[in-house]
Parts: sequence; C-alpha cells; structure tokens
Amino acid sequence: MYLLTLESSCDETAAAVIRDDGKIQSEVVASQAALHAEYGGVVPELASRAHMERILPVMDQVVKKAGISLAQIDAVAVANTPGLAGSLLVGLVAAKTLALVLGKPLIAINHLQAHIYACQVAAGENIFPCVGLIVSGGHTSLYRCNNALDFELLGTTIDDAAGEAFDKVAAMLGLPYPGGPNIQRCAEQGNPHAYAFPRAFLHEKERLQFSFSGLKTAVRYQLVGTGRQSFEELHLDDTTRANLAASFQEAVVDALATKALHALRLTRMNTLCVGGGVAANRALRERLESDAKRYHYQFRTAPLKLCTDNAVMGAIAWERFHAGLFEDLRLDIQPGVVRKNAAS
Ligand code: KG4
Ligand code: ZN
Repeated sequence: MYLLTLESSCDETAAAVIRDDGKIQSEVVASQAALHAEYGGVVPELASRAHMERILPVMDQVVKKAGISLAQIDAVAVANTPGLAGSLLVGLVAAKTLALVLGKPLIAINHLQAHIYACQVAAGENIFPCVGLIVSGGHTSLYRCNNALDFELLGTTIDDAAGEAFDKVAAMLGLPYPGGPNIQRCAEQGNPHAYAFPRAFLHEKERLQFSFSGLKTAVRYQLVGTGRQSFEELHLDDTTRANLAASFQEAVVDALATKALHALRLTRMNTLCVGGGVAANRALRERLESDAKRYHYQFRTAPLKLCTDNAVMGAIAWERFHAGLFEDLRLDIQPGVVRKNAAS
C-alpha cells in the first residue's frame, strides 16, 4: 500500500510516497530558501505563491519517481497545522482534491508531531514514550509524547523560536539567510565563552518555557551599544563576528539542553527525541549526546535532511491510517499550535 504525503507549512514544498512497511518509495523537496534570502526571512505571501507554482510539479515528480500510477495511492496525507495560513492552504487544497478524485481517504498531519516522528523514521523502531523537543524556525516546544497519536504540550517559547533567533542574529552579524547553518559555520572559528549572553529561566526547574528575545537584544547591544548606529555601518572583524556567533549559539544550546533535561526529569521519561531545523545544529547535537551519557538518557534525532522540513516525516500519517483517523472535506487549516493531540 502507498501513502502520498504533502508538506507546505512554511517555505518548503515537499511530497513523499511511503509504503505501509515504512519504506520511503520516493521523496521530493522544493526549497524556497533562495527566494526569501534577499529579505532575510520567509515572506508569507511569496511563500504561498511559490507553493502554488510548485505543488503540482512536486506531486507529479514524486509519483513518477516512485514508479507508480496515481491510481495506486491508497491514502493522501497533508500537514494542516501549524504553519503559515496561505502556505498550509495550498497543500490542503491539493490533498483534498487528490483524495476526492481518487476516492481515497484524507489524513491530517500535525507538522510538529511529524518533526518528532522523523526520529522514528530514522530509527526504524518505536521511539515512544519520549519527551519531544521541537526546535524550528517558527516553534520551540517540549512535548510529552505518549505514543504516535498522543502528544501533550509541556511548554513552549514565550517569544521568538530558536531558529528565528538564529536567523535574526545572523542578519545582525551580516550573515545570509537561513541564519542557522551560517551561524554554525561562523561559530566554528569563535570562542563560545567570549561573551556571557543570557539564558532565560535556566534555573527554574519546574518552568518548561523558553525565551530568546532577550538573548537577541543582548547580541544587539553588544554589537551596536544603545546608540543609533545601524548594522550596515558596523565594520565587524572576523574574530569578533565568530566570537559573537559562538557565544550566541552556546546560549541557545545551553537553554535547549537544560530545559530538555528538566522535562525528562519532570515526566520521568528517559528518551529525548529532537526534531526541526535547529536539530541540524552540530553544537546542539554534540551537547545532547554528551548530556545523554552524563545524565543517563537516550538521545535520538534524525539525519539532517529529515530535521529540516520534508514530507518523509509525514509517515506519521500511517499511524492515523491504522487507527482509522480519517478526515472529510471539511478539514481546515489551523495555523496556530494545537495543545493536545487532534491534528484536525
Ligand atoms: O524546521 P524548519 O526547516 O522549518 C520550520 O518549520 O520552521 O526550520 C528552519 C530553521 C531556520 O530558522 C534555520 O535557520 C534553522 O532551522 N536551522 C538551523 C540549522 N539548520 C537550519 N539552526 C541552527 N543550526 C543549523 N545547522
Ligand atoms: Zn518545520
């Protein structure tokens, strides 16, 4: 049996064909990174227009690559929450139309839950129960993941997401979008202890929340002081830039790793699964690996291309398929975060 999954929640138009034994028959990701680069971040209206142009060719290509015909697809699944409204709509309308035309079931995918499920796809074995840490451009949250159908929000950021902070600080340092990989590269030459940047709520063990806007402001003040000088007028030398990047990255990694540990202790779980674009960060992966050894928990993540947005993680839809959780054509988008379970 074949499942077609679609992903268009942010700036990647992606599709995959996944067999019921878990084999990835084919996958396609059309990235819009180059389109948004000149604006230093994702422009929602441009993103939805680009999805409109790409969704049909991407679907066409993924089915061809799978070596099957459309008629062989047994179910159509789509990420309908959370994300940019216009972007989610494009995937949803495409999925509904295909499901209707083929007369096959429609399944809803919660994009954040799918990011955690990427760890299961990578592991090829059951990862549940676990604490799920999602760190992406739009979200930074901790979940209690009881099983693939039962996720409960434990805490989230009260302002910026970790990826958003990477992107904004990168812009301040004159590094191109997407900021995460560029800060990582620049930080490799720097000293992570050069500047003591803030880590919000670090010692409040019961508080499973994040905040990165103060950190972003601290980098800004370090750069330009409280004066009116603009970033463009700064002539940063390479060492200072690398030290700022490394110290900023260290502060984010410290906050994420410490809160993940708090969540493991509070839930009495011993597996941590990390997904989302920032999970591709080498310093974060190394820190979590060493913490896992030190504090005796199991750390799981996915290969880099399954951390950033993709449709392969939509394999979570097979779990809903087997549980008989189907949607009708009233399925709508839900741009905001769902606190407990229901993808629809
Ligand atoms: O999950 P994702 O692909 O899209 C969203 O759902 O938002 O995450 C994108 C975010 C961007 O903010 C990007 O800068 C960040 O992930 N990112 C990284 C790295 N690779 C991507 N952040 C830090 N280090 C990286 N290596
Ligand atoms: Zn994502």
